[in-house]
Amino acid sequence: MRLDKFMTECGIGSRSEVKKLLSMKLITVNGIISKNADMKIDEVNDRIEFNGKELQYRKFRYYMMNKPAGVITAAEDRKHDIVMDLLPEWVIKKDLFPVGRLDKDTEGLLLFTNDGEFSHKVLSPKSHVEKEYFVILEKDISDDEIKKVESGVIIDDGYNTKESRIGRHSGNEIFLTIVEGKFHQVKQMMEAVGNRVTYLKRVRFADLLINDLEPGGVAEVSREDIVKG
Ligand code: URA
Repeated sequence: MRLDKFMTECGIGSRSEVKKLLSMKLITVNGIISKNADMKIDEVNDRIEFNGKELQYRKFRYYMMNKPAGVITAAEDRKHDIVMDLLPEWVIKKDLFPVGRLDKDTEGLLLFTNDGEFSHKVLSPKSHVEKEYFVILEKDISDDEIKKVESGVIIDDGYNTKESRIGRHSGNEIFLTIVEGKFHQVKQMMEAVGNRVTYLKRVRFADLLINDLEPGGVAEVSREDIVKG
């Protein structure tokens, strides 16, 4: 791989920024200063340092965001604020895309990656990857309604939802865990028992919890943080 490509993929900067750093003699390859953008390096075995700090190459990157309400999950949109605009400058945006989507008014855990195979896998209903939501409802939900939702309800022109799990937090607040991701799924599941979602936040994706990441906050995570084992 070319040295400048390696450096941009490590998040050091654009190709032109990297060129400047090289001319400033800030980069060493195996201890020797390099000023050559097109130098061929071995990204696994060579030791590349920037300002004395070793750079780690990652082909695939994974980030979590606590998506705030009011932004749409899209890679591009002319009219609306999009989640990509909230990614801080230290995030390497090359080939990055959101994994699935959250509605504009939904908050919480949204993943980004450049790993298409991973995204496909975790979004496939066949993989049974759990997504957990904190839901506030317009009205209290009864134990019978909870059982009904858990065993599957009809949404989306006849689609029967797979089994889900509900933990009650209060009369009208629940934690709902589902293994699929149909359009407006949680909202539709609640409508199926005559209720309405007034607040929705995804708090977990597979093994990854949102914990205390602040709204709009972004953190880099590993594939193993998301899906253990
Ligand atoms: N279900 C919904 O209804 N909306 C979301 O954003 C996510 C799940």
